[in-house]
Amino acid sequence: MTYSAASAGLTAIEFVQVSKTFGERERRHRVLNEVSWAIPKGKTTVIAGGSGQGKSVTLKLILGLLRPDSGQILVDGQDVGKMGAGQLRQLRTKFGVLFQGAALFDSLSVFENIALPLRERTKLKEPEIRAKIMATLETLELAGHEEKFPAQLSGGMKKRVGLARALQLEPEIVLFDEPTTGLDPLMTLEIYALFQRMQQQLGYTAVIVSHDIPKVFELADQIVLINKGEADVFAEASQIIHSDKPHIREFAEKTMGL
Ligand SMILES: Nc1ncnc2c1ncn2[C@@H]1O[C@H](COP(=O)(O)OP(=O)(O)OP(=O)(O)O)[C@@H](O)[C@H]1O
Ligand SMILES: [Mg+2]
Repeated sequence: MTYSAASAGLTAIEFVQVSKTFGERERRHRVLNEVSWAIPKGKTTVIAGGSGQGKSVTLKLILGLLRPDSGQILVDGQDVGKMGAGQLRQLRTKFGVLFQGAALFDSLSVFENIALPLRERTKLKEPEIRAKIMATLETLELAGHEEKFPAQLSGGMKKRVGLARALQLEPEIVLFDEPTTGLDPLMTLEIYALFQRMQQQLGYTAVIVSHDIPKVFELADQIVLINKGEADVFAEASQIIHSDKPHIREFAEKTMGL
């Protein structure tokens, strides 16, 4: 196990000098160039940056789906890059994941989609599963829709079912990758308000990758901007505008309507 002072207490995830490169020789592309930054426990971190800058790669590194070329990714102080298959399986039980499209199973009802992690990962009996899911459906305003199939749901409902499923195992950390894709602006706001409520209620660490700028910044306790291999951390959106780096000010001008 790797010791890091910062990951001992209030830090959920820490990147230490992480580099990630894809491709060979002249096609080599360094997506992350020795980036160091941390995700505080129980807070919401928003990861922003242009298309192809490495946001999804960052989430995959956290889950151990990709390994860094060098540097460390520490989750609760443990180096994900060095974990074997068994340790990675164990690590992933800490996470709830909600990726683009919500990835629901079309042939399963809302109830069965949400029940999946409970059936696969716990020994809960049917009445306990039912009770747990009914409570979740109530919280996420999905009560009465449990027998429907994904094709019968609106975009916002699908996202809520995806969130319900991601929360079933009471994760310490929830990763969201473009969770509002395909939603209209109003629905996007509603989903973000719901994320905020759930995060406050359950206290998990939230990491949100999103293009919904500046809307998503309102949820953020911290913003990480990934650009040209660098990761810059901001405590709030207004700091982005005043950055002394020209490429960051340019990002702010383009995306924050300034
Ligand atoms: N498995 C892979 N093999 C090769 N290149 C990859 C792989 N995964 C990502 N990349 C490259 O890494 C870069 C960053 O990709 P990533 O998916 O993280 O972008 P992103 O910031 O999530 O963009 P978007 O906003 O479009 O989703 C891109 O140039 C992409 O082509
Ligand atoms: Mg992406």
